[in-house]
Amino acid sequence: MKSPIRLGVNIDHVATIRNARGGLHPDPLRAAEVAASAGADGLTVHLREDRRHITDADLQRLSAKVSLPINLEMAATEEMLSIALRHKPNAACIVPERREERTTEGGLDALGGHNHLQPIVTRLRDNHIRVSLFIEPSIAQIEASARLGVDIVELHTGRYSNLDGDAQAAEWQRLEAGARHARSLGLEVHMGHGLTFDNVAAIARIPEVQELNIGHFIIGEAVFVGLAEAIRHMRATIDRA
Ligand code: PXP
Repeated sequence: MKSPIRLGVNIDHVATIRNARGGLHPDPLRAAEVAASAGADGLTVHLREDRRHITDADLQRLSAKVSLPINLEMAATEEMLSIALRHKPNAACIVPERREERTTEGGLDALGGHNHLQPIVTRLRDNHIRVSLFIEPSIAQIEASARLGVDIVELHTGRYSNLDGDAQAAEWQRLEAGARHARSLGLEVHMGHGLTFDNVAAIARIPEVQELNIGHFIIGEAVFVGLAEAIRHMRATIDRA
């Protein structure tokens, strides 16, 4: 039976390794093809302001050559909006972005950023691009996202994945309650950030979760077992949950 949870594989860090030497290897397009054949349901890429991993040329080639739906993570800027409108990804996931951060730390402020976000959300949706907001699993942020008229919320699992014991269990409760509330408002529920073979199963057991976006751990594990095997193992761990 096909898993009800879609797995989006984030291939940014294939580009990070390539960029370390400035050449063409390893090619994110090849990673995308492996992901497709190993059971990924989608690709996630984050075109950052500083282009530290995926580049505009990568996005162009991936959009033209890969059959999997693309989830484009982007900051809420005019530059990224025009790139999204040009490439028409299946979904655009708006993320907070600060140049100095190592990865996307913390969720987007859908509540405080309403006036800035609304025109961007509207223009993406008017152009038939599904819009997702990467937010903390807080009821206020989920309700603010619904008011913005987005299709999807991606609940940030970074805190959950950095905790253990009772603190992790409490954060899991927040994710579970957030997922339920988001669904009750008609939002599609995705989750991601920091997920691994060890912590993904509890997340995959939340019935409202429809998609998981996983990158860094899969690409790291690929060093040891190969990309296809790392994706297949993640897929199987999610399916078993
Ligand atoms: N989802 C979003 C919105 C992200 O920004 C990231 C990190 O780029 C991920 C998922 C994947 O996180 P990780 O690389 O820790 O698996």
